[in-house]
Amino acid sequence: MTSQAKQVPCNVVIFGGNGDLAIRKLLPALYHLEKDGYVCGSARIIGASRTDLGKEKYTQLVKEGLDQFIDRSDWDEAIWESFSKRLDYIAVDAKDPDSFQGLKDALGHEFEEQGTVYYLSTAPQFFGPTCENLAHVGLISDNTRVVLEKPIGKDLESSKVINDAVAKVFPEKDIYRIDHYLGKETVQNLLAVRFANALFEPVWSNTHIDNVQITVAETVGVGGRWGYYDDSGALRDMIQNHLLQLLCLVAMGVPVSLDPEAVRAEKIKVLKSLKTLSPEGVRRNVVRAQYTEGNMDGKQVPGYRSEDGGETDSTTETFVAVKAEVQNWRWRGVPFYLRTGKRLPARFSEIVIQFKDVPHSIFPAGTHLRSNKLVIRLQPEESIQLSMMNKIPGLSEGMPVMPVSLNLSMPDRFAEVRVPEAYERLILDVMRGNSTLFVHRDEVEAAWVWADAILNEWQASTAEPHYYPAGSWGPQAAFELTARDGRSWHEST
Ligand code: BG6
Repeated sequence: MTSQAKQVPCNVVIFGGNGDLAIRKLLPALYHLEKDGYVCGSARIIGASRTDLGKEKYTQLVKEGLDQFIDRSDWDEAIWESFSKRLDYIAVDAKDPDSFQGLKDALGHEFEEQGTVYYLSTAPQFFGPTCENLAHVGLISDNTRVVLEKPIGKDLESSKVINDAVAKVFPEKDIYRIDHYLGKETVQNLLAVRFANALFEPVWSNTHIDNVQITVAETVGVGGRWGYYDDSGALRDMIQNHLLQLLCLVAMGVPVSLDPEAVRAEKIKVLKSLKTLSPEGVRRNVVRAQYTEGNMDGKQVPGYRSEDGGETDSTTETFVAVKAEVQNWRWRGVPFYLRTGKRLPARFSEIVIQFKDVPHSIFPAGTHLRSNKLVIRLQPEESIQLSMMNKIPGLSEGMPVMPVSLNLSMPDRFAEVRVPEAYERLILDVMRGNSTLFVHRDEVEAAWVWADAILNEWQASTAEPHYYPAGSWGPQAAFELTARDGRSWHEST
């Protein structure tokens, strides 16, 4: 056990426990929590799904998953020994109330004694029935919580149906809607950078900031997930949740504390201030595009429509660039350019705060003063860079200056600290009952109001998406989006 670890008495039941997310992310996260000493002696970890697997086969599946998805150096036979003793597997059909009895028996009286987290890592249409059937067999108490994975619906209406069904069983305080971006260390660090330093807040507004850019670029395509993805597209899959959450953390006002209610209240204000785009606004301010065949790192890769399971006439977007506006005093006139895409040349996520030019230059004519930029690199190679003008040392006449960068590299500065995966942090927070890093129902709904305006216009329109070859930085239209305003995307692209 690590010196600060405090054991949390809590069972975890994962619906969809043999699915991709559970094996790739959730169980490795729980293994790390075990290793770090957070899981208490009697806690159970139970996989549940329709497949008839049995405990032994499930344990084997989890072990194979850990082999593949945790670092070799993190493997510890003794930890596996205690971790595997907690594991169990129960076949449960979300829509069959009787099948929940097996789960009740497996949890036994421990269910009454310690908290239980139900992690719904399933398709959203099962959220309602699963909650209802948990209640049906008496598996809900003051000490139970439910975690909902995205997507919560396809639009405002369907998200309300899901949220209503879950709310029939769980009060809002026990519902944890996960957005794994909020569990990333560097995303949490945004709160620290903004609110634990006196430096930034006074300049954090339209008086000093010219524009904000948020980019989440991925190299992967949608191979293997075509069925899910084609129904979703980049706007629903990334922008409506991950990118809007990042926007909230950049744009929110100072919360009165780090309490969940305080932080979420500020985020909700931002989401409610987002300008809903008119059809004309969508045509002008949103770029939707799909990747075609191209070259990534010297290898030819198929276009979106030719991926496994693909269909030749799909117009689903794999890239979106959008100019969003937060209509309040602080941000009036500051565009927030959001951009995400698959099959781009590099994987990185970053937030760029572009400051305004100095009001007046005292330097010799012809001196190019570049305005300050704060670049927060969320992944990979997490860093915070502040670009500023600096005198070039030497005896040259006048005052030659050039842009330089103050650079805080997280891996260098915190080399001795293991950076936990987002899911470790988030699962531990649910076990502890802390919902600061989770998404309130009002946030989901406000985000859908904004996204629906775009989706509705796309649906009504007969226009094709733009196309970009895999391995490029997206369509020309994405560059024109910023160029039209006399701006450009941060130079890392
Ligand atoms: C998921 C999306 O929520 O986030 C995926 O469904 C995407 O399409 C993934 O690839 C990106 O997450 P990360 O943590 O790899 O940036």
